[in-house]
Formats: sequence, structure tokens, C-alpha cells
Amino acid sequence: MTDQAEAQDSAADPDVATRRLARESLAADDPTGWFDRLYTAAADGRAVIPWDRGMAHPLLADWVSTAEPDGSGKRALVVGAGTGWDAELIADLGFDTIAFDISPAAVEAAQQAHPDSKAQYVVADLLNPPTEWHRAFDLVVEIFTVQALPIALQPDATRQVGEQVRPGGSLVVIAAARDDGQPDADIEGPPWPLTRAGVEAFAVDDLRLIQLERVPGPSDPTSYRWRAEFLRD
Ligand SMILES: C[S@@+](CC[C@H](N)C(=O)[O-])C[C@H]1O[C@@H](n2cnc3c(N)ncnc32)[C@H](O)[C@@H]1O
Repeated sequence: MTDQAEAQDSAADPDVATRRLARESLAADDPTGWFDRLYTAAADGRAVIPWDRGMAHPLLADWVSTAEPDGSGKRALVVGAGTGWDAELIADLGFDTIAFDISPAAVEAAQQAHPDSKAQYVVADLLNPPTEWHRAFDLVVEIFTVQALPIALQPDATRQVGEQVRPGGSLVVIAAARDDGQPDADIEGPPWPLTRAGVEAFAVDDLRLIQLERVPGPSDPTSYRWRAEFLRD
């Protein structure tokens, strides 16, 4: 596709452009390569990042205002951090925050969007995270990363998210919800929204589910979101 066609495609509907990049990547058996291509195209003005809200996710902001976590002396990890708005909220609470993404262009976009950030933005792969992160974080935040991966990769991604939570630490997950009755084969991702069982699957070993809500999406009340909180004993 030419640059001009790409720009028209994206301007018409950013989701269409995103799905096209994702389809090409998935067809080439490269389930994560499209993220960097999308962020690179967005940096050049040839695409729009459909999930870039320009602010922290409202369900995370709401959790923060209720739980009032004090991050001083604590470490946080933000998974698949994209352009960094959620990481900024967490870092501003005093957490020593690492925000990672598989896409170098996303990390660059986050650094440019938040030049005075207290968070550290790094490139890393959730499916193969640095060993020093293992059970090292008081708070792990996962928003829309697992669902962005094909269903076959989700169990491994889900387990890796939980593995980064230290004993006594918390995990907050926000994900698009789908009905348990809807078969995998009916989902034309990305994204591949999570079933209730898919969210409960974060509770491995001594990581316990302490709260699970299914709430209308902040921008589209006809689609639902999971917000879940876990605690490692
Ligand atoms: C749907 S976006 C959500 C971004 C951000 N969490 C938000 O809610 O705005 C999924 C993000 O996960 C990143 N990602 C996908 N696979 C990943 C992986 N294996 N490791 C780390 N990041 C990944 C993508 O580059 C993208 O930024």
C-alpha cells in the first residue's frame, strides 16, 4: 500500500488501518510486529493509534482515587505501556515506575509525550521479560495488552503478567470483556477480549483475585470492560 493510501485508510477509520497492519503481521506469523509498524506510521503522521486516549484509563484513575495507593518506597510495572498515560499516573503516585512496551517506536513516543517523566520507559517483551523483574513489583498494571495478543498466546502472557508481582504486591487488570459463551473462533481480533475465565486465569499460585467487576466501557457503554484486582499473599 502507498503512503498516500495508508494515510487515507487511517484518516477514514483508525481501526481499519490498525486491523490491516495486524492482519498482514498475523498472516506472516509475526503476532507482535504490527505494533511497532503502527507506532512508526503514527510518528510519521500516516496512522492514528486507536487506543491513545491522551489520559490515563478512566477505570485506572477511578481505582487510584478509591484505593489511594501510596507509592513511596515501592516499585510499579506498567505492561504494554503504549504512549504512557497510565504510567504517568502511577509514577505521579510516587512509585518507582518501569513502563515497558515491545515496540521501540511506542517507547520513543512515550518519552516524547512525557519529557519530564518520573517513569522509566523501556523496550521489553512480556512473553520473555527480564529475569530481574520476576516477583519484583509492588504494583503491576496491565491494560489491554493480553487481549491484543492472539488467543493462543494469552495463557503465557497472562501468567507472565502475574509473575512480576512480589509477595504482598497487587495487580490491576483492565480488559475488554466477552461472554463466556462466545467461542474463540467467533472472535476476529485484534483485540481478542477476555472471558471471565480469561481474567480469573491471572490468579496463579498465591496471586489471589480480590475484586472483579464487569462495567460499561467509559467511551462506549454498550461494550463491557473487566476491572480486576489481585493480591499476592
Ligand atoms: C492495545 S495496546 C494498549 C496500550 C496501553 N496499555 C493502553 O491501554 O493504552 C497494546 C500495547 O501492548 C504492546 N504489546 C503487545 N505485545 C506486547 C508484548 N509481547 N510485550 C510488551 N508489549 C506488548 C503494544 O505495542 C501496545 O502498545
